[in-house]
Amino acid sequence: MSISLSQTVLVTGGAGFIGANFIHHWLSDPNRKAINLDKLTYAGNLDNLAGLDASDRLEFVRADIGDGSAVQSLLERHRPRAILNFAAESHVDRSISGPEEFIQTNIVGTFRLLQTALRFFRDLAEDEKKQFRFLHVSTDEVYGSLHSGDRPFTEKHPFEPNSPYSASKASSDHLVRAFCQTYGLPVLTTNCSNNYGPYQFPEKLIPLVIHNAINEKALPIYGDGQNVRDWLFVADHCEAIATVLEKGVVGETYNVGGWNEMANIDVVHTICDLLDQERPRADGRSYREQITFVKDRPGHDRRYAIDATKIARELGWKPKETFQTGIAKTVRWYLSNEDWVSRVTSGAYREWSEKQYGSQT
Ligand code: NAD
Ligand code: DAU
Repeated sequence: MSISLSQTVLVTGGAGFIGANFIHHWLSDPNRKAINLDKLTYAGNLDNLAGLDASDRLEFVRADIGDGSAVQSLLERHRPRAILNFAAESHVDRSISGPEEFIQTNIVGTFRLLQTALRFFRDLAEDEKKQFRFLHVSTDEVYGSLHSGDRPFTEKHPFEPNSPYSASKASSDHLVRAFCQTYGLPVLTTNCSNNYGPYQFPEKLIPLVIHNAINEKALPIYGDGQNVRDWLFVADHCEAIATVLEKGVVGETYNVGGWNEMANIDVVHTICDLLDQERPRADGRSYREQITFVKDRPGHDRRYAIDATKIARELGWKPKETFQTGIAKTVRWYLSNEDWVSRVTSGAYREWSEKQYGSQT
């Protein structure tokens, strides 16, 4: 059955990188509405939704996904067709230095959100039940690490998470599955590879390297720089999510990837070369000279690669961007949006946000 894409959806984590890109994508159709429920952690930034704040098709609520009464009252008021769960602690390095928040949000928070969603679902009329979906946005990191000759991850690959982040996401994926199998909640899960593009917080490799390069700082590469990631432009990921919501089969998981495997050192070289053209250094030398090899991340997964055959064959989704086209757009976006970068890195946004919404987190 095909879901009408014209109705309200509840997006959690919509002030973060992918959630905000998804809201922009979703609202590009004037018939659609969205509610954005976000706790506004350090990674959540309402600037990411600039231009949409005045829209009567988007409502923002600051809340935790684990806050059952806040979520329930939103569900009762808006009766959305779907919940799309983007909210998470998402940075592997932070999960190593402080795993507690990852357990709270990614496991306990998702569990509570599922409970609230189930309560709402059970009270729906039969025809509404057929339309409702809970779409959980997850990661390829749940599958662990590949060796260089291994086949890319399919949906049948066993879970072997290696960091507190990926373990917490794997737990949430299991809970989502269990709520479908045990209670009949109509869930969909997507497991995606590394995203890049506009509005990514500059703690992740690509925005960090762009930001550091133009600010004359070192470009830190963990270990030998040969770890491989499968890069996906965020707009392609957003289209994949909308496609899964529209056509995905309840209870199924879909792997989403860019068919763009690259070693970190090659990613950083590509960025440096683009910056050399777009914003040459004053001394005429290459940004590559700022590259510094640093101590490796503990438990650093060597290689991720997604086999995105199932979503292509069954739902007709394929990425549009190659790494070359996507990274050129991304570098230009960061060069044209330096104010955004300074606001999210300086803490000015955090101060404003505390004033505006208080510190209830
Ligand atoms: P992000 O860190 O940029 O944003 C996360 C958002 O969730 C923020 O706005 C934050 O304020 C919000 N949030 C955190 N805890 C919350 C809570 N308890 N209640 C409500 N809101 C909360 O993350 P992202 O990179 O946009 O990732 C979004 C989702 O996609 C995550 O679930 C992540 O695991 C998954 N994912 C990310 C990537 C990637 O490359 N970034 C790849 C695959 C999957
Ligand atoms: O694979 C999907 C995952 O991709 C998502 O689930 C995560 O939320 C997202 O953060 C991302 O995880 P990674 O750990 O792969 O992304 P990160 O940008 O932190 O690092 C990418 C690679 O670059 C990784 O091999 C570590 C390396 N790295 C990272 C940073 C921040 C460096 O070499 N130097 C750095 O400074």
